[in-house]
Amino acid sequence: MRRFPKCKGFNNMRVLGIETSCDETGVAVYEGGRGLLGHAVYSQIPLHVDFGGVVPELASRDHVRKLAPMIKQLLADLGLRGGEIDAVAYTAGPGLAGALLVGAAFARSLAWAWQVQALGIHHMEGHLLAPMLESDVPEFPFVALLVSGGHTQLVQVAGVGDYELLGESLDDAAGEAFDKTAKMLGLGYPGGPALAQLAQHGDPGRFRFPRPMTDRPGLDFSFSGLKTFALTTLRQQSEFTSEGELGQLHADIARAFEGAVVETLAIKCRRAVEQTGSRALVMAGGVSANRALRARVDRLMADMGGRAYYPRAELCTDNGAMIAYAGWQRLRQGQQEPLAFGIRPRWSMQELAAGQ
Ligand code: KG4
Ligand code: ZN
Repeated sequence: MRRFPKCKGFNNMRVLGIETSCDETGVAVYEGGRGLLGHAVYSQIPLHVDFGGVVPELASRDHVRKLAPMIKQLLADLGLRGGEIDAVAYTAGPGLAGALLVGAAFARSLAWAWQVQALGIHHMEGHLLAPMLESDVPEFPFVALLVSGGHTQLVQVAGVGDYELLGESLDDAAGEAFDKTAKMLGLGYPGGPALAQLAQHGDPGRFRFPRPMTDRPGLDFSFSGLKTFALTTLRQQSEFTSEGELGQLHADIARAFEGAVVETLAIKCRRAVEQTGSRALVMAGGVSANRALRARVDRLMADMGGRAYYPRAELCTDNGAMIAYAGWQRLRQGQQEPLAFGIRPRWSMQELAAGQ
């Protein structure tokens, strides 16, 4: 197998990244020294919208349809041929098993055909490293808040592959709570961005939702009670609300819900930063696209004499760029994998080691 071309250092290695863990097909090429050369994301939202959530079998089939043409197009746009790619990185987990298998099988086959290294990447490591794709990057060590549809975690990051879980959600992830509450308010799937938009028209003073688990020590989260609180508020208030005022009621509930999630995350971030003595807080994952959360975390870190880092909005949600970048980092560390491969629908990031 052609592992690394002799004339090339790791710094100019080109990695193709493939993301298919859920309902986005993402492809990208990252080159050491030059950065992200290009990326493309195809969202399956229109495919799942009528079902109110992701249908795993439909997701897998759509990844099969989209992956090859998207890679072809990306390489053509970048003026690259297959032989000019030095490694293929793909999301090996966590995620939907069928969707992961599509990306894994495709990436492994491409790597075999091109005789280059294939690298199975942890999806959350991809999110965690995504802020490094920006021009102003945080230095290790730092604290990371990972907030996506499936995970809410605070992680102490000493370096690539050196992760200590400080706390996590004991039930719903923050994104999941956004999505469920949005559904309750009659907003479409995925609900997070729609709820955030509605919240902008809400009155911040009308309702005050609880900040779960902030009155006891520790860095774990619990968000499932918040959506129940939202439901109870909606039911009680709807009885006394005229048809014409229902829209405002929904906006006020959205505002109170978003405010409670943001404040709860901020309180735990403050604790994590104090506990670790870190000066940098990195935020990543779909919910980190939320503007209220970004503003709050910026303020928090400024108050604490530190700084918050997060990727541009398009790299907060699932994408191939973060997988290509994590792949490049792993390649640099000398990660080698046998030809046999599997996927891991459930996978703790703590099991990762540097240069495994
Ligand atoms: O990271 P991601 O794209 O996929 C997973 O790995 O889960 O995150 C998707 C989650 C969804 O729950 C979505 O509703 C939420 O991120 N999300 C948002 C926003 N944009 C995406 N939640 C709140 N506000 C947003 N602006
Ligand atoms: Zn994700």
